[in-house]
Amino acid sequence: MKFASQTKIVDITRIVEYEKYLHRCLAGPFKRYKKRLEYLKRAIPKGFHKKLLLLNREIVGQIEYSPPEVSYYPITGNKIIVMNCIWVLRKAKGHDFGKLLMEDLIKSEKDAIGFATIALKNHWSPWFKKDEIEKLGFKSLDSIKVAHKTKYKGRTFKIHLMWMPTTENSKLPTWNQQKLLEGITTCILHPLYHPQTYEQKQILEQHY
Ligand SMILES: CC(C)(COP(=O)(O)OP(=O)(O)OC[C@H]1O[C@@H](n2cnc3c(N)ncnc32)[C@H](O)[C@@H]1OP(=O)(O)O)[C@@H](O)C(=O)NCCC(=O)NCCS
Repeated sequence: MKFASQTKIVDITRIVEYEKYLHRCLAGPFKRYKKRLEYLKRAIPKGFHKKLLLLNREIVGQIEYSPPEVSYYPITGNKIIVMNCIWVLRKAKGHDFGKLLMEDLIKSEKDAIGFATIALKNHWSPWFKKDEIEKLGFKSLDSIKVAHKTKYKGRTFKIHLMWMPTTENSKLPTWNQQKLLEGITTCILHPLYHPQTYEQKQILEQHY
């Protein structure tokens, strides 16, 4: 790994200096908002972590994960960890930084029997692309076909439940597809974000 000696992964969950990165992504607007604040308050004591990947002190990547009870997604499983998000900036892509973040996750959560997340297929955003999530070592267990109720109306995309076991014959995680239709309230830049002003319960509708 060419840059390995110049990189550092910092767990910022409880470091005041990096506190703003708990509330925001690597790019995009910096805004503290109620749902995120409430989420962090609930999730941090229960095992939520956010880590930044630094390359020569410049932030180039991040990973966020937690036990399923306090994850973004309605995924359930015993002794599993849910990866809420992983992101390596485009300018830093292709240097094994994604792999580095995954290795750090596996090393940090030794008791986990596996890791779960979601992936998207045919969504209009560049986020959570299934082939990219697969490259990190995850495989699809299940999927649901949906359309957004207000954006790109009628365009369907699939949400996949992704899984990466670390032990053989580990019990598979499950998910609550109906709950997933409500979207995510805890990250403003997430492609499945449910805006606070959108009053309907579900932002997505299932297609068959
Ligand atoms: C997925 C992601 C983290 C991968 O980061 P990365 O540092 O570029 O990936 P790596 O260099 O560690 O590569 C991981 C694997 O994918 C392979 N890979 C990476 N880019 C590839 C490409 N364009 N084509 C084929 N294979 C590729 C690597 O060879 C490696 O495979 P290996 O384990 O067989 O060697 C990064 O692309 C990303 O951040 N994507 C956006 C993720 C996202 O949507 N986040 C949510 C934000 S809201």
